[in-house]
Amino acid sequence: MTKLWGGRFTKPTNQLVEEYTSSIHFDQKLALQDIQGSIAHVEMLGACDILDNIEVTRIKEGLRSIEEKVKNGDVTFSVEHEDIHMNIEKLLIEEIGPVGGKLHTGRSRNDQVATDMHLYLREKTYALIELVEGVQRSLVDQAEEHVKTILPGYTHLQRAQPVSFGHHLLAYFWMFERDKERLRDSLKRINWCPLGAAALAGTPYPIDRKMTADALGFDHPYPNSLDAVSDRDFILEFLSISSIMITHISRLSEELILWGSQEFQFVELDDAFCTGSSIMPQKKNPDVPELLRGKTGRIYGHLMGLLTLLKGLPLAYNKDMQEDKEGMFDTVDTLEGALSLLAPMLASMEVKAGQMKSAVTEDYSNATDIADYLAVKGLPFREAHEVIGKIVLYSIQKEKYLLDLSLEEYKEFSPLFEADIFEKLNPNQVVAARNSEGGTGFAQVEKQIQLAKEHLS
Ligand code: ARG
Repeated sequence: MTKLWGGRFTKPTNQLVEEYTSSIHFDQKLALQDIQGSIAHVEMLGACDILDNIEVTRIKEGLRSIEEKVKNGDVTFSVEHEDIHMNIEKLLIEEIGPVGGKLHTGRSRNDQVATDMHLYLREKTYALIELVEGVQRSLVDQAEEHVKTILPGYTHLQRAQPVSFGHHLLAYFWMFERDKERLRDSLKRINWCPLGAAALAGTPYPIDRKMTADALGFDHPYPNSLDAVSDRDFILEFLSISSIMITHISRLSEELILWGSQEFQFVELDDAFCTGSSIMPQKKNPDVPELLRGKTGRIYGHLMGLLTLLKGLPLAYNKDMQEDKEGMFDTVDTLEGALSLLAPMLASMEVKAGQMKSAVTEDYSNATDIADYLAVKGLPFREAHEVIGKIVLYSIQKEKYLLDLSLEEYKEFSPLFEADIFEKLNPNQVVAARNSEGGTGFAQVEKQIQLAKEHLS
């Protein structure tokens, strides 16, 4: 079989070279986008009188028939034709004869591959936005159930102040909201169209780039042909957004793992999302959140890989750039898998409100509220802080919690204490009192849930 570019060569390609340089085993993922781009291109060639109508019709019919076969899994691609672009062109020529060879008029694989990747990433960006929303919905549903479930809030992983569990979950809702916003914003740049830049310099044919850009749903052509075929910053941006998103997923996963441990016992993941140990029968392992946390490394790796790949490349296309695809595909697959699992896992997790409550009652996380109590009565906060430090130390020595001390004991530390201190120290009251905007006070959490729902609809 002859190569599409065989004319200049006197010898067949070394077999190892053929295998080494081929990308068909991964870029066949772009088959449908490649055909979509070719159809827009050939219609434009017809409209601009570069090809006649009969040629255009035959090429389009040929492409449609290959598209059907691809969808049905009826084509075999070959390493010999190197990549998806030449494989499809070869199939087209087999299907409709030499006229198929006219498809490549006025374009190059360089603008073609860039166009395919823009199309692919646009589709996947929309799909990921949907999946992120699925996770957000699970978070809002759980938050709604657990506005009044309280647990210790932590800083330095030390119990700090009690918070609403709904509030804690909604923190992740807003992280995912910003991830979604970044994905949406990136569409502005994904929607630049490289097609018609040709190899690097444009083409002598009187093509209409606006027409192909419109047909493919892009906002406008790249204004510079060299940029159009050299740039991969739309992929870098996707990998950056993905890295941030998997960081959020990883932190949430880490909390699920901690909360599910014997030490915390705040939540229990559904059996359907856990696995057992082959040796210790008592165990129920949080494999899914662990893997979600673990997958973070490969996405960061893909980002670093592509940044490194591009940093020293002269304009325009270099074969190095063929290495831009696998990291992108893997990142898409990894995130699709992660988000698809995270949504039902969150929805089905059992929240152990009783355990959370006892963690809050059996600690000193209401200490700040005594300081606030004295400060409201006129004592400067710094002095109040000092008084409370002493009360906490006294309580620890007496093996008591703050609610166990008597009013007499409190009065030993400051005459400002009255009987209403006990109400102030009640954990529910402690949470409810934090009613500043965006705080964990129940009324604020309810407001936040409404706002979150508006962002979803
Ligand atoms: N398979 C190639 C890639 O993915 C397509 C572009 C090839 N262009 C070239 N001038 N060899 O990068």
